[in-house]
Amino acid sequence: MISLFDLRATPDPETVSAIGSLHEEEPRYRAIFPAEIKACIGCWSCWVKTPGRCVFKDTMAEIARDYVNADKVILLMDTAQGFLNHVAKAFMDRTIPHYHPYIEIVDGECHHKVRYDRYPELHFYYDEQGLAEEETQVIEDYLSRTAYQFRSKAYRIHKNPAWTLKELSPRRARNKTLQPRAAAKVDQLIIYNGSPRLSGSNTALILKAISDAHGSKVVLRDLKQKNLWAQWASNFPHESAVLFALPLYVHAMPSHVMAFFEMLSPSKGSLGFIVQQGFPESSHSYYLEAYFENLTRRLQRDYMGTAIKGGIEGLQLRPAKGQKKILAPFVELVGSVLENGQMAAPLLAKLAKPEYLSKGILFLFRLLAPTGLFLLYWDRQLQKNNAYSRRFDKPYTATKDNRPLDTSLDS
Ligand SMILES: Cc1cc2nc3c(=O)[nH]c(=O)nc-3n(C[C@H](O)[C@H](O)[C@H](O)COP(=O)(O)O)c2cc1C
Repeated sequence: MISLFDLRATPDPETVSAIGSLHEEEPRYRAIFPAEIKACIGCWSCWVKTPGRCVFKDTMAEIARDYVNADKVILLMDTAQGFLNHVAKAFMDRTIPHYHPYIEIVDGECHHKVRYDRYPELHFYYDEQGLAEEETQVIEDYLSRTAYQFRSKAYRIHKNPAWTLKELSPRRARNKTLQPRAAAKVDQLIIYNGSPRLSGSNTALILKAISDAHGSKVVLRDLKQKNLWAQWASNFPHESAVLFALPLYVHAMPSHVMAFFEMLSPSKGSLGFIVQQGFPESSHSYYLEAYFENLTRRLQRDYMGTAIKGGIEGLQLRPAKGQKKILAPFVELVGSVLENGQMAAPLLAKLAKPEYLSKGILFLFRLLAPTGLFLLYWDRQLQKNNAYSRRFDKPYTATKDNRPLDTSLDS
C-alpha cells in the first residue's frame, strides 16, 4: 500500500498524478488541511497514558493506520521562511506515538526504540521555489535525518528537470556556518518561550532562572499566547535583541514556533536561540542549529549564537540544588548576551557537552542497560497511569478491516 498525504495549502492534481506515475501502484490520496492537524503539546500521553495513541482524535489519528502499515508514505509539503512550514512540521511531531520512549544506541547515538515491526519508506516532495540553495540543503538534511531516526528509507521527489526519485542517505548537519556577529550591549532582551507544554515545562524553568537573575533586562513572552502573535510579530522589526528558547521536537522546532517564525519579516537587530532536548548528546540539535543560521540570514539580523543543552527532560523532577547547577550556565549565557551582544563561546561549549556519546558513556550504557535503569523514568509514569501492561501496544497494526483512505482529489 502507498499512502499519499497532501499537506499543501493548494493541492493540484497535476503534481499528484505526476508523482503517482513514479510508482507501479496507485497511491491512496488524502488531502490534509492545516486545521486538521493539531500541534503536539508535549503531554507525553502517547507514551505514558495511552501507549501509541495521541490524545488528539483528529485527522492524524484517523490516518495513523494508513501511515504505519503503508509500504511507502508520500508527503507533499509546503515550505515557509526557508524550512518546512508549520503544517508539515506538525505532521512530523505527531508521528512520535509510533515510537517508544525507551532509548537504544544505534551507531553510537541515542534513538527511540521502535513500536512497530516495520516502518514505511518516506518520499518527500516540496517546491524549491523561493528557497536559497543552503535552505534547500538544510531541509533535505533535516528530512534524511528524521527518516533515519524514524527507521524509514528516505527519498526526495524532484520535479526538475523531470520527475524523479532520489534516495537520501543520512548525513551530518551543515551547522556552524554562521559566526556570532552581534556585538552591541543589550539593554533589553526579548525572550520567547517556545515550549508547547501546558505544565511542567523545562524551558519555563530555564527562563524563570534567567528572569530571576536578570530582572527587567529580559522580557519573557510565551508563544502559547497565540492571541498576542500578531502584535509581537509587528513589534519584531523594532526590537533589537530577540532570543527564542525552545525544546527540540523531532530534530527541529515545535510546530507552533515555526508558525510564529512564518510571521516575521527581515529587520535590523540581533537574533539568538537556546535549544534544550531530551537526548544527552547535543549533536541531535545540529540540524536545527543549521536552520537557525539560515533563518538569521533570511531575517537579515546579526547572530547571537545557538546554545544547545542535552539531557534536560526530567529537569523539573530534580532536587532544587541539582536544578540550580544545570540552570546556572543558562543564566551566565544570557548575562554574556546582555553584556556583549552575543553568546560567550566558552559557555556555548560548556552547555553543549557532550556533543557525542564518548566511548566511556557507551560502555556504561551497554553495562547498565540490562538492569532496566534507563527504563525507570518512563516505567514509573506508565505505572502511575495504570498503563504499564500496555506499554508495548501497537494500536495501529493492520487489521482485516483496515479502512481505506476515502478522500480523493477528484471527488
Ligand atoms: C514531539 C516531541 C518530539 C521530541 N523530539 C526530540 C528529539 O528529536 N530529540 C531530543 O533529544 N528530544 C526530543 N524531545 C524531548 C524534548 O526536547 C524534551 O523533553 C524537552 O526537555 C521538553 O521541554 P519542555 O518541557 O520545555 O517542553 C521531543 C519531545 C516531544 C514532545
